[in-house]
Amino acid sequence: MARLKIGFFGFGYVAATLTCGIERVKAGEIDLTGVPLENRIPGCNVEEIEVVCGFDVDKKKIGKDVSSFISMYPELKTMDSFDKIKIHQGVNLNSAEGMPFKTESIDDNHTLYECAKIIVERIIEEDLDCTITVTATEEIYDVDSVSALEAIIKEDRKDKITASMFYAYCAFLAAKKRERGIVHINGIPSKIANSPVFSELSEKSGSVLIGDDISSGQSRLLSDLMEHYKEINRTILSAVGANWGGNMDFYRLQDEKRNESKKITKTGCAKDILGYDMPSDIKPHAYLQNLGDKKAIFMHFPMKLFNGAEDEIYICGRINDSPAAAGMLIDMGRLGALAVSRGESGVNATINSFYCKWFGKQHSKILAYQKLIGWVKDN
Ligand SMILES: NC(=O)c1ccc[n+]([C@@H]2O[C@H](COP(=O)([O-])OP(=O)(O)OC[C@H]3O[C@@H](n4cnc5c(N)ncnc54)[C@H](O)[C@@H]3O)[C@@H](O)[C@H]2O)c1
Repeated sequence: MARLKIGFFGFGYVAATLTCGIERVKAGEIDLTGVPLENRIPGCNVEEIEVVCGFDVDKKKIGKDVSSFISMYPELKTMDSFDKIKIHQGVNLNSAEGMPFKTESIDDNHTLYECAKIIVERIIEEDLDCTITVTATEEIYDVDSVSALEAIIKEDRKDKITASMFYAYCAFLAAKKRERGIVHINGIPSKIANSPVFSELSEKSGSVLIGDDISSGQSRLLSDLMEHYKEINRTILSAVGANWGGNMDFYRLQDEKRNESKKITKTGCAKDILGYDMPSDIKPHAYLQNLGDKKAIFMHFPMKLFNGAEDEIYICGRINDSPAAAGMLIDMGRLGALAVSRGESGVNATINSFYCKWFGKQHSKILAYQKLIGWVKDN
């Protein structure tokens, strides 16, 4: 029996990679390489995860099952269970604007209040333990209070709310209604786990909130390198972190406002860890279709050391985007469920600081890992 039923808001590369990988683990085709905590999380092994459904706005996916569109992702293959995983219609709220596909969404012909009712009913019907937002990167919006958020929904102010905010609201409303907490993960660079409003909603519904954005590649490496040089007391003079990719995430980041959201989640960590600011440019740079999901990365740090000498570090590589994010999410969902089973609610800083890019003051991932292992072993 499934111990963790997952539903995705946005069923694209990351969701499809996670789903395919889990089914391949169950079939004995692959091992747990790339899942940080493997089967060391009490209460749920990777084989006990079931991806139940998705919510999307791509007309090609809605009402279909995963087997019908898995060929969109060349590295993935169809698995037996894919015809049972259905894609429901989600809310668009402009997140798919400018994307190269036709959209269909509940908010085309329903008010926000009606949309919430539909999504909440689906979450309850599908009996989801965990919902994960991996939709298109959005411009970052904020809201001041729970009552202001409720007013936006009641007054149908579609210009004041993004899809990731709306999905988080629905997840916690469903949890409250069924009187059983949910794990909600915000996998995109928007302000959900960093928002006191959503933190309050998660607490009041006995739920656990994890986010924001998944730290899966270059940003993790950057944070650990900064820790390393801080410990040996060198001064980093500047930091460049660039990447180019050919998946839809990079396509969308051609829009400046969305790219800004990524830049915010990526740049904070160097300053937080080192304790001083420096000239830096760390962000996705361009969409190059032929690179696909395997992005090209470049990093450069000049630094000062003893006796006025200067070193320069250059790193370049090709790294897979979605499998890295999927491996992290497999842990995040199970750790969130462990927190719920321990009676915890709200935002869990220990889980966030290891797996996410942006959660208050950032620490290196190596230090965050030690804390996380301590938390898992508690009780
Ligand atoms: N790929 C990674 O390694 C990685 C790492 C960290 C974070 N992320 C975040 O994960 C997100 C998804 O990445 P991806 O590579 O799967 O992208 P993708 O474009 O392949 O998938 C996104 C999916 O969301 C759907 N969508 C768009 N707007 C929606 C809405 N309002 N409601 C429901 N569905 C909607 C799209 O139709 C698509 O199916 C990105 O926004 C990115 O910020 C990805």
